[in-house]
This record gives sequence, C-alpha cells and structure tokens, in this order.
Amino acid sequence: MRNIMRVYLLQSPGNIAKAVLEKIKETLSKVENPVLGLATGSTPLRLYGEMIEDYKNGGFSYKNVTTINLDEYVGLDGSHPQSYRHFMNENLFNHIDINMENTHIPNGVAKDLKAECARYSRLVTANPPDIQILGIGSNGHIAFNEPGSPFNSTTRVVDLTESTINDNSRFFNSIDEVPKQAISMGIADIMKAKSIILIATGTSKAEALKRMLTAHYAEDSPASVLQTHRCVSIYADESAAHLLPKN
Ligand code: PGA
Repeated sequence: MRNIMRVYLLQSPGNIAKAVLEKIKETLSKVENPVLGLATGSTPLRLYGEMIEDYKNGGFSYKNVTTINLDEYVGLDGSHPQSYRHFMNENLFNHIDINMENTHIPNGVAKDLKAECARYSRLVTANPPDIQILGIGSNGHIAFNEPGSPFNSTTRVVDLTESTINDNSRFFNSIDEVPKQAISMGIADIMKAKSIILIATGTSKAEALKRMLTAHYAEDSPASVLQTHRCVSIYADESAAHLLPKN
C-alpha cells in the first residue's frame, strides 16, 4: 500500500526553514519528553539558524528534548572540524538550552564499530523520533544509505560512493581528506520515526526528488522508501521542485 506524502512547495529555503520550525514546535510541544531526529549537511543549516533565533527571542525551550542524529564519519572524533558532532555543536547545540547529554551522534572513533552501531540502533528503537529531519543526496541517499542499501538495514558502517565523496569534498581541504566510510542510521531505523520531514532545496536535488516521488519504490532509490512511511512531509523550494509533474 502506498501511503500519502504531503509535499509543500515553498518559494525559498528561508520560507522552508520557518515553516519547518513551526511544525517542530507544534509537534514537540505536545510531547512530554520529545525526541527530535536531526541531520547534517547544508540543507538544515537555515533551519538551525531559525531554531537558535527563536530560542534567543524567548521561543521554544529544548531543555526536555532529546536529539538523535543520523550519522557520523568513521575516523573523525568530535573535535575534528568536519565531524558531525562538531557541526551540530557549532551550528545548533551550543546556542540553545539543550542538555548535551541528551544529544546523540554515533561515535565514529569507537574501538568496536560494530558494537557502536548495535548500541545506536537500540537507542533509536527505544527512542523513535517524534520528528526526523532528513535531507536528500543528489544520488537519492538518505543519511548515508547509498543506492542499493537494503530497506531492512539497521545502523551500520557504510562505504561512501564516489558521488557522495565528491559532494562532500567542498567541506574539506582536498577530496583525499574526505573519509571513505561512515556510521549511518539504517533505513529500517530511519523508518521508526513517528513522522519525517524531508527538505530538498536547490537544482542539484531536483532529479533525486523527482525520482523519490515518481519512481517505483526500489532500493536503488533509497529515498523512495518514504513512499511507505505513514507520515512524511516534503518541503521543497522552486529549484528542487522544477522537474516535478505540474499536477
Ligand atoms: P546537503 O546533503 O544538505 O549537504 O546537500 C544532504 C544529504 O546528503 O543528505
């Protein structure tokens, strides 16, 4: 059975950030100990900026919020400037009233990576996010679940594809510095979220967005799995949506 996905087409990434923030506040304020699933990359940066501004202006408090991030590079510890722990601290956590102990990101330098993945999968199972924020890769990946990732995958170490290494090399001094592996929440773990918000902005996401929404549900298009989730909202700007059918 195909579930209905709500698609919101907004004019700009700024409008999307504001709309998603309102949705987060509305949903989390109804829950006693809310869990928010977070993502890294360029896409959520505006949203995190809105969250910080809202908090500083006396808006939503994150005191009781637990966050669970999607992924981390293997081999980068939290002090590395390109680690996702560092990204989250710098771009969100250090600027709001969240308890750092309640912020979860896989440990990319764990001695036993397999045990770390199993621990993380148990964490997600025990604390399914009330909302999971997702971006989408230009190749259709969600988190670091690259094309071909099994839909029943749980958190595990994955090899990054050339296309993802290329996309992410803009954050590093050279492409050789981009880690080749990551710990990624698996597709089955992502699907445990009670609701999912996927944000797609910019022309580089247009093809992946079109495929996710219109192509057959298949593992070569990881984001297409969302067609089977019970509560998904997609927020796209005009550039990302320009290849979508008009009706
Ligand atoms: P981006 O990455 O936000 O940096 O474009 C999105 C993703 O790979 O999920």
